[in-house]
Amino acid sequence: MQKIIIQESQTWTQMAVSLFLEIATEAIERRGAVSVALSGGSTPEPIYRALSKDSVQKKIDWRKMHLFWGDERNVPPNHTDSNFHMVNQLLLKNIPIPADNVHRVLTELDVVAAAEAYEMELKRFFPGDWPRFDLVLLGMGADGHTASLFPYSDGLQVEDRWFISNFALNRKIWRLTLTKKAINAARNIIIMINGAEKASMVAEVLKGEDNPQEKPIQFIKPTDGQLIWLLDEQVASKLPSGFSL
Ligand code: 6PG
Repeated sequence: MQKIIIQESQTWTQMAVSLFLEIATEAIERRGAVSVALSGGSTPEPIYRALSKDSVQKKIDWRKMHLFWGDERNVPPNHTDSNFHMVNQLLLKNIPIPADNVHRVLTELDVVAAAEAYEMELKRFFPGDWPRFDLVLLGMGADGHTASLFPYSDGLQVEDRWFISNFALNRKIWRLTLTKKAINAARNIIIMINGAEKASMVAEVLKGEDNPQEKPIQFIKPTDGQLIWLLDEQVASKLPSGFSL
């Protein structure tokens, strides 16, 4: 099941926070815990800041929250490019989450070993054939990538792994990422995109030709879960009015 929410720019962050709280609360009520794979990049930063606010963070029992990363850069955890570093600065330092509930990618290791180690971590936490996150947060690059699944990268073809190292051809760098099948195993996926600069790609992805090798975010289709496209008005501006999936 998938739906689009087009939110005014000034309330987009609040909508993201309320969706996060709704999904986390339901997971804790139903299963006693909640697992979230966080997105990197700049788009989610105001969401992590908002979750840190006293008025918001007290709505979550962080002892029951397990945080993971949907992807990570191949840099040390204290590097300014690290997604862990970003989340640590904006969220982790401000919330009472037990250290054991923060599942960081061990990027001190070489990229192949880091991917294998994280996949083992995921398999220790999630029983079954695939990691069933309660929520996976995703962004989208202007080139149509998501997590670190980049256009025409080898990682797009991987069908039997949960977490891999992946070479981004257009950036000539190694990254670490959940695979498309691991992401699609989630109960809930929220794709968070805002800003006018990505409006053409959003229209291309949602209305244009289906070509996930070129636009990897088109691989994102939960097998048994909900997909929410959370767009602001600017990034949705090239979609026909009343557009629905
Ligand atoms: C990362 C992200 C990546 C990001 C997009 C969008 O590690 O950078 O996981 O997939 O979501 O590149 O990035 P912005 O939000 O910075 O535009």
